[in-house]
Amino acid sequence: MDNFFITQEPYIHIGNKRFLGRVGNTLIKSLGLRYTLHQHLDWTTDMNSVEQRINYFHLLDAVIAYHVPGDVVELGCYTGQCALLFQKIIADHNSDKQLHLYDSFDTHFSFKGNIEQELVSNFERANLKQPVLHKGYFEQTLPANLPEQICFAHIDCGFGGEPQQHREIMLHCLTHLYPRLSRGAVVVLMDYHDDQTGDKGADANPGVKLACDAFFADRPEKVASLYGNEYSHGFFRKL
Ligand SMILES: C[S@@+](CC[C@H](N)C(=O)[O-])C[C@H]1O[C@@H](n2cnc3c(N)ncnc32)[C@H](O)[C@@H]1O
Repeated sequence: MDNFFITQEPYIHIGNKRFLGRVGNTLIKSLGLRYTLHQHLDWTTDMNSVEQRINYFHLLDAVIAYHVPGDVVELGCYTGQCALLFQKIIADHNSDKQLHLYDSFDTHFSFKGNIEQELVSNFERANLKQPVLHKGYFEQTLPANLPEQICFAHIDCGFGGEPQQHREIMLHCLTHLYPRLSRGAVVVLMDYHDDQTGDKGADANPGVKLACDAFFADRPEKVASLYGNEYSHGFFRKL
């Protein structure tokens, strides 16, 4: 992957032929029409949207630029689609922040091979420093394997389970991350979906909002929704 924001070019399928969307877009433009072709995300392979990647970029970039102390953590890394972007941002800042990734590596979605190995290969192919991997269920790896101080965390542990089960996992993650967050640290919550905001993104894991409502009921921080187009997410900043 050499583009950390758009992972694939759009294709149009007509019969059994496949045309690059760019050709279609050139044609549309030449006709003077104010539209562009855009390929829908594939829910089984694309773990985040372009808009979400832009949000990750600005949030992590700012945390590093303003010297918020601590390391970078992702709970639920799968094959590393977000993690590659996080490491790229760390590298572009020449920062000594360490990226720590946590996953059981046993949820396959549509991927058939060894997920952990694929993650390592993705970092090799992108020519990025390898992250520190913490293999296992969060219930075993947290809090023992968390860094002492954290400046940025991404919680992305949707696996298609029941909302109440997901709520409990999210609460476990939030409970153990929270005391290690530096002042000004940012936590991005994948799948945070608040109907009240008019968010048109998917409400793929309602357990995230259920957990946040309970966790922040008696804390000063508030979760804000971010525009993620097809997917939903939100974030809070540690006060
Ligand atoms: C949607 S994927 C993460 C996608 C990833 N952030 C990316 O950008 O490629 C969710 C991941 O959470 C992991 N996961 C879910 N519950 C977990 C738990 N209790 N302990 C460890 N990993 C878990 C799954 O194994 C899966 O890889």
